Amino acid sequence: MTVYFNGQYKPKEEVRLSPDDRGFLFGDGVYEVICAYNGRQFKAVEHFERLMRSMVELRIQPPDMDALSRVPENLLRENGLESGWAVIYIQVTRGAAPRSHPFPDIETPVTVYAYAAPFVTPEKELEQGARVVTTPDNRWLRCDIKSVNLLPNVLAAQAAREKEAKDVLFIRDGAVTEGSYTSFGAVFAGKVVTHPESHYILPGITRSSVLELCSQLSIPVERYPVQAARLKDADECMLWGTTTQVMPVVQVDDMTIGNGKPGPITRKLQTALLN
Ligand code: PDD
Repeated sequence: MTVYFNGQYKPKEEVRLSPDDRGFLFGDGVYEVICAYNGRQFKAVEHFERLMRSMVELRIQPPDMDALSRVPENLLRENGLESGWAVIYIQVTRGAAPRSHPFPDIETPVTVYAYAAPFVTPEKELEQGARVVTTPDNRWLRCDIKSVNLLPNVLAAQAAREKEAKDVLFIRDGAVTEGSYTSFGAVFAGKVVTHPESHYILPGITRSSVLELCSQLSIPVERYPVQAARLKDADECMLWGTTTQVMPVVQVDDMTIGNGKPGPITRKLQTALLN
């Protein structure tokens, strides 16, 4: 596997990461995940804009973004991933420096790592729908930043796995914010409802594509936090994300959503997203 590391393409085995790297020591870094189909990246510009925003918010010195934006296509080519589904991962950390909590010297170069890998879409769940479980949202108050500091998400995703669920729904102040690696939407009386953009959720690229598609398809959208107690009245629920696409949710904890089958609006959005 050829990966990108600090300006060079090289076999993954040849990457040497300093144990002083702040990504390793502090989770002091940001990342993006982009999917590609037949070599065509989905919303790459938006992913790079969000990467830039995450770095600005955390005051990480951005690397050359023009050069970085060409990395995904090179990785897809170098790794023979120009047909079928692939996923590209990009991470930037605040670099390597002797361990000390404040920022290192301004001259410290950031660490940049990226790889591309084949991706198997979750066909069965996309077709039949998935189950999710609710869990308290105990993340920090800057969930809008796509930081590699993902411990609450990791613990939540593991809890979901142990309950044989696809993901969690994080609940803050009684309302659903999002999943551990997905955005969330529900349908009430023909309207798609999702948490408004705020520091409680990641501004998901798939989420914004879905909302744009809703407007094209004349599906009304309302942005407010859905109370967990109201989920029993939802006609449809969905997870949205780069590696999840539009995933029907047919069960939340022990509760069946709608008639337990993916609903019509979910189906419309699934199809529209792939076209
Ligand atoms: N996760 N919310 C969270 C907390 C996420 O981590 C993600 C993405 C999303 C969906 O965002 P997008 O549509 O831009 O992928 C929402 C990626 C896929 C991950 O961590 O692997």
